[in-house]
Amino acid sequence: MVPGPELRLRQGEKLRVTVENRLSQDTTIHWHGVRVPNAMDGAPNVTQKPIQPGESFVYEFTVPDAGTYWYHPHAHSSEQVGRGLMGAFIIEEPEPLPVDRDVVWVLGDFRLKADASIAGGFNNPMEISMSGRVGNTVTINGRVPDRFPVRAGERIRLRLINAAAGRIFGLDFKDHKPLVIAFDGQPVEPHPPEGGRVVLGPATRTDLILDMTGKPGDTAPVMDMFYEDLEYKLVDLSYRDEAPLRAKPAPPLAKLPPNTMPEPDVAKAQRHEVTLTGGMMGGGGMMGGMGGMMGGGSMWAINGVAMPDGRMGDMEPILTLDRGKTYILAIDNQTAWHHPMHLHGHSFRVITRNGQRTRFQEWRDTDLMPPRSRAELAFVADNPGDWMFHCHVLDHQDGGMMSVIRVA
Ligand code: C2O
Ligand code: CU
Repeated sequence: MVPGPELRLRQGEKLRVTVENRLSQDTTIHWHGVRVPNAMDGAPNVTQKPIQPGESFVYEFTVPDAGTYWYHPHAHSSEQVGRGLMGAFIIEEPEPLPVDRDVVWVLGDFRLKADASIAGGFNNPMEISMSGRVGNTVTINGRVPDRFPVRAGERIRLRLINAAAGRIFGLDFKDHKPLVIAFDGQPVEPHPPEGGRVVLGPATRTDLILDMTGKPGDTAPVMDMFYEDLEYKLVDLSYRDEAPLRAKPAPPLAKLPPNTMPEPDVAKAQRHEVTLTGGMMGGGGMMGGMGGMMGGGSMWAINGVAMPDGRMGDMEPILTLDRGKTYILAIDNQTAWHHPMHLHGHSFRVITRNGQRTRFQEWRDTDLMPPRSRAELAFVADNPGDWMFHCHVLDHQDGGMMSVIRVA
């Protein structure tokens, strides 16, 4: 099935999954955003040997935090995720939020041919050096959406997961007024989406509270407005002809209970600069421009280092951090492209953006960095091991934008 089965556990429970590889390629599974022990992280040749065709591997770990996560292979990522290998991973709070429905939308993006089969040609150098592969068919839970049935008066917790290889979403709920309650699984002060749009970079998640304030029989569109002049209707919210579930609007909700990440001690933090370079029309010298396109695998770099041709295991760490200390990664995106930067094994607070303190100091595991922008990410390096730090546009990742950060 596409997406794969939804995994749903309660915070603190143990997950045990046997992965049987029936592909013709090697693979692994990464539990995106979940702070797993290093050996369970699914980074090929870094935390485990890739699972060869015909082999299997057992992942087993306790889930420390509640929230909306997902899982996907971390080998041949562009093709394997691009062909639909991914699924939702939901970890419920000990006390469920008082909502009428808990709904998961795994947002996918496929490039289909006229006969509806998935087009090949993954890791196309032109796409690697630009936005990455963006498809022509957007899906919700593996289907081309048409209408999403709702009932007047109901309160929905909508868990949005961007599982696309390269597409960014900017969802506008028009007449409805969603409240953001979590980013990347981590609670945030409930607030209306900034600029009226729920922006989801690849691999990011947003949990919303959506009150169905329309009338029975109404139809209300959800638009994706992210790319200028390419807006389209994602889906219609379609009200059933049923009496409203409640007469008065539901009362405001409190913030979700906090998760278990240690609080970064920003005043004592050690700061490290991290620069992103490469791609078309980008700065950063040697990698920029058409020249980079001739060079094969390494069109992007982190601190001047590019992953050699998909071989994660050959990389020296760009940073070695002391376990238990607070660090700030000061990221400078010098390129002309968006990069959703993901750190494995940890969540971080986004403390500044372009030098300005962020309003919510939100926790994330993947931060969408606009072209030519800066951000400071603060976290306690409390999870020992070698962790991937990379761009989650899968073509960028495969094209070199991948590094290792060691917590010693
Ligand atoms: Cu979604 Cu390196 O991962
Ligand atoms: Cu990128």
